[in-house]
Amino acid sequence: MLNIVLFGPPGAGKGTQAERIKNQYSLIHLSTGDIFRANIKGETDLGIMAKNFMDKGELVPDEVTIKMLESEVNKYPDSSGFIFDGFPRTTYQAQKLDEFLTSKSTSITKMIALDVPEQELISRLLSRGKASGRADDQNKDIIVNRIKVYENQTAVLADYYRAQNKLSKVNGIGTVDEVTDRLYHVID
Ligand code: AP5
Ligand code: MG
Repeated sequence: MLNIVLFGPPGAGKGTQAERIKNQYSLIHLSTGDIFRANIKGETDLGIMAKNFMDKGELVPDEVTIKMLESEVNKYPDSSGFIFDGFPRTTYQAQKLDEFLTSKSTSITKMIALDVPEQELISRLLSRGKASGRADDQNKDIIVNRIKVYENQTAVLADYYRAQNKLSKVNGIGTVDEVTDRLYHVID
């Protein structure tokens, strides 16, 4: 199996690139943010709970997020691999993901971290917010808080995967095609 963690701050291009990688390598793309947003739209209990955190740019609690991710993975027993987008986001999530994959006799193959400077992240997200309707893209303070949460709670995961010799960094600046080519190069 090929299991990739596509990593990076809010607006780095994880969702954009995951859609391409998924087609190229026949992987299942699991974005925890997208799954939460689908639950918000469907007004499920999970969505109602998650919305309180997401609208402020805070992380949804680990236990519910992990449970949701595991149940998504279990929906695809015959998959040839996964691309995890927006998960894991805390050291605890990463540890639980490792345990879960080990129990399925598989593991993370590689973490690819997209590197994009903060000013570019803010301008991408503000401009997406004009059309997307994403509540957490509507205001600069919330975007800045998401980046702060990433720096405080999530960025440390690069060290977690580096310690396993699984980290690759990719420059996320350039056209979408240029970034995709860099990612294919790292995966191949
Ligand atoms: P999530 O949905 O994961 O959002 P995020 O990490 O904030 O990142 P985005 O989806 O905004 O950015 P992206 O990196 O996918 O970039 P994209 O391709 O869209 O999480 C949202 C919330 O859900 C979290 O805040 C949290 O509350 C909760 N959550 C999710 N997972 C969780 C977890 N594991 N634990 C706890 N809570 C969790 O691109 C951004 C924009 O830039 C787009 O408009 C795109 O068109 C544009 N763009 C892309 N590439 C380029 C390029 N090369 N050049 C110019 N523009 C580009
Ligand atoms: Mg995304």
